[in-house]
Amino acid sequence: MFIAPSLLAAHPGRLEAEAEAAIQAGADWLHVDIMDGHFVPAISMGPRLIKALHDAEPAVPLDVHLMVSSPAQFIADCVNWGAASLTVHYETCHHLHGVLQQIRSLGCKAGVALNPHTPTNVLQCLLGDLDTVLLMAVNPGFGGQRFIPFTLEKIRQLSNLRDGSSGYFLISVDGGVGISNAALIREAGADVLIAGSAVFGSDDYSQAIEQLRGKQTVTK
Ligand code: DX5
Ligand code: ZN
Repeated sequence: MFIAPSLLAAHPGRLEAEAEAAIQAGADWLHVDIMDGHFVPAISMGPRLIKALHDAEPAVPLDVHLMVSSPAQFIADCVNWGAASLTVHYETCHHLHGVLQQIRSLGCKAGVALNPHTPTNVLQCLLGDLDTVLLMAVNPGFGGQRFIPFTLEKIRQLSNLRDGSSGYFLISVDGGVGISNAALIREAGADVLIAGSAVFGSDDYSQAIEQLRGKQTVTK
């Protein structure tokens, strides 16, 4: 189980310090959300931030989530600046197989994100070309939204698809992941929990990460 705090929910004026605090608290990866104000309504951080984070925390994998309409134009910068994993949205790619190959050819892990309305079986032909599938459990664009319950079934479906294929990839869940639903999400088959407000909105990042991981009893 990997826990990836999403810096979208961190204090925007103290990103390096927030990243450092999350790592000290036990984060396995740091999740970086890049938004263009077009594919999603909001604009967040740009690829240049990846370099700053990578320079500051070179040992921690940066899990970059591209919520942009034209992801291909950002791939080289994101990888050169330190992304360990780069996830593009299925909904934005006319040539998804080519985009995944481009990412992998640069030595980076390749992921595909699916919006809540996109069925898991659209990935059937690509199961051997993926390192991660990121299931959006909210509509992308903002932190702090409520988890959409039918996503749990998509996690199970994807886990079954993986069992029936020769490929292996991690199942990552993003949006509305919190202490109260983490056990259900883990049990459905998730390998990676991405959590913004559940970590950076808490008073104790360490405790939040341990509870998401299922290593500490939830008391409230
Ligand atoms: C939303 C982003 C998420 C966001 C999750 O579109 O992709 O990574 O930070 O935030 P929470 O965990 O607060 O729902
Ligand atoms: Zn994200």
